[in-house]
Amino acid sequence: AEDGYDLWLRYRLLAPAQVQHYRPHAAELVAGDATPTQTVTRDELQRGLSGLLGSAIPLASTVTHDGAIVVGTPASSSLIAGLKLDLQDLGDDGYLIRSVVANGHAITVIAGRNDIGALYGAFQFLRLLQTTQPIDRLDLRDAPHIKLRVLDHWDYLNGQVERGYAGASIWDWWKLPDWRAPRYTDYARANASIGINGTVLNHVSSGATILTHDYLQKAAALAGVFRAYGIRVYLSVRFSAPIEIGGLKTADPLNPQVQAWWHAKADEIYALIPDFGGFLVKADSEGQPGPKDYGRTHADGANMLADALAAHGGVVMWRSFVYADKPDDDRAKQAYQEFKPLDGRFHANVLLQSKNGPVDFQPREPFHPLFGAMPHTPLMMEFEITKEYLGFATHPVYLGPLYEEVLAADTLAHGKGSTVAKVIDGSLDHHALTGMAGDANIGTDRNWSGSDFNQANWYVFGRLAWNPTLSSRDIAEEWVRMTFSNNPAFVKPVVAMMMGSREAAVDYMTPLGLLHLMGPGHHYGPAPWDASEAEADWRPVYYHRADRQGIGFDRSRSGSDAVDQYAPSLAAQFNDVQQTPEQFLLYFHHLPWNYRMRSGRTLWYELVAHYTQGVEDVQQMRDTWQHLDGYIDAERYRQVAAFLTIQQREAQWWRDACIAYFQSVSGLPLPPGFAPPQ
Ligand code: GCU
Repeated sequence: AEDGYDLWLRYRLLAPAQVQHYRPHAAELVAGDATPTQTVTRDELQRGLSGLLGSAIPLASTVTHDGAIVVGTPASSSLIAGLKLDLQDLGDDGYLIRSVVANGHAITVIAGRNDIGALYGAFQFLRLLQTTQPIDRLDLRDAPHIKLRVLDHWDYLNGQVERGYAGASIWDWWKLPDWRAPRYTDYARANASIGINGTVLNHVSSGATILTHDYLQKAAALAGVFRAYGIRVYLSVRFSAPIEIGGLKTADPLNPQVQAWWHAKADEIYALIPDFGGFLVKADSEGQPGPKDYGRTHADGANMLADALAAHGGVVMWRSFVYADKPDDDRAKQAYQEFKPLDGRFHANVLLQSKNGPVDFQPREPFHPLFGAMPHTPLMMEFEITKEYLGFATHPVYLGPLYEEVLAADTLAHGKGSTVAKVIDGSLDHHALTGMAGDANIGTDRNWSGSDFNQANWYVFGRLAWNPTLSSRDIAEEWVRMTFSNNPAFVKPVVAMMMGSREAAVDYMTPLGLLHLMGPGHHYGPAPWDASEAEADWRPVYYHRADRQGIGFDRSRSGSDAVDQYAPSLAAQFNDVQQTPEQFLLYFHHLPWNYRMRSGRTLWYELVAHYTQGVEDVQQMRDTWQHLDGYIDAERYRQVAAFLTIQQREAQWWRDACIAYFQSVSGLPLPPGFAPPQ
């Protein structure tokens, strides 16, 4: 079936010319099976090569032919040990793929210092074939730039996935630990293929039950499936768990009984899951309990948990996503205000996990001002892979350019070139403990992610967590080739369509630095007029601040002064309306409707032009797809086509609703020649 279940690991028979070209280089496979990781590496190569080349690759215990593939480590393979490869600077997870001569035969060697590096190398080797790259003279080496490459599942124990648009949770808690669905193995394969090495199983607000012994056993069963693929299990924990499931009267982090409870809990976990990764914590945020309930700081809370895990090698990923409803203040400033003063106060096994932007995963936000502002604390990136604010499952929006834009943004923290990527890969402030998390878009849908194109967002997240300097365009091309087709007549237009899709969404939803115009609660579709929420900072009107005179949130020095949370030279830029990039204009400034834009248009006309552009871009995407019928299977083709139709209708809805609303506020006429909504 062409239902997308295989993701990018499709391994379908290549074109005859490719098969002919590759077969001589896949004559036999020399691969160990002394460890679970070695076994799955060998299985993956056999499965991939037989699928791509149309016949099974013979296993051999040593090289007997030209075209042998040898995979392993110096410890697992005497042949690799004998080759004296320069593996030193590959780190724990890196690999090398090289065409060499051994035993008098021309072979390909795939080697790591550890089994897991060899597995990553095997997936890369298969990727070369899947994307039809030459493999006759290989000399590749690669290692991840970031240590913890983690999916955060927003799954509740009842099967619901918060902001999940791909069905229910894939964790079947009812049947665990005894039944380990084959799907868990495929999940691990997909993640390992892009270098993901950690998974947080449950949502940050999902309560304390996950820490009960029964659930820990279920988590241990999953860890048992993932281990061979180098993936560790982490859990989101509720700060007040000692009260809820421990029978204590307090969760005060400085209380010795509380500390002892967490230590005992950590010991219990590690007895079940010896390679347990650690805790993810949402504390004092959106109603979740935390150390501030006891007059303590976030550092007190994080350190208490970190101390319980330290002896076992676990980490705490403490989230910076905190804000309280303060109608007169600026929500965007609050995380920085809370955490910046705590820089240097966290224990060594704590990472501070920040969303990419200061508000909440909007189609576009400037980077979070904590990046670059806390040199003594490992800052971990949190991207949202699930498209909460980007059209859920049905709007094909490729998030690669969003991630890339944030990672490439220059914090100017230590002068030019202090990019966000360098903050989170640890190179800017010399941290060895580094991480990147993505809020997963995975569910029980046959295609895992709610749509075929959403799979690309899981893929690009993993690839950028491996190396945050990769180009999102290159990754898109890789993904299209692996997932759909290598035919350039298909690849080129689809990559172009993907690369433009995020900007299109920004244009039809929230152009020029606007944000949070989505209907509160569900976050689907436009509701810029909505002022009904109890909390001021959940109301769209709080964010756009449009009135008869103008529009935008003044975060300059004459407003909330959020600009001064950025490095001084950047703050000066954002404070000056002339120097503020137009894509962030209304994020930083409140401006009159007749403000003159660089195009020469008034702000009002420019806004209308962006909304219209977004709709036209989606029309263009639809046209592109219409010309691609026949290049791929009908099943996936039709679903994408149907979803583009939905997207186009809804882009129009966004445009018309927003323009009508803003016009009702501004009282200004529409630009001459503006085509009225049909
Ligand atoms: C957003 C999102 C919530 C999520 C929260 C978080 O507000 O809408 O569903 O729980 O972020 O990241 O904690």
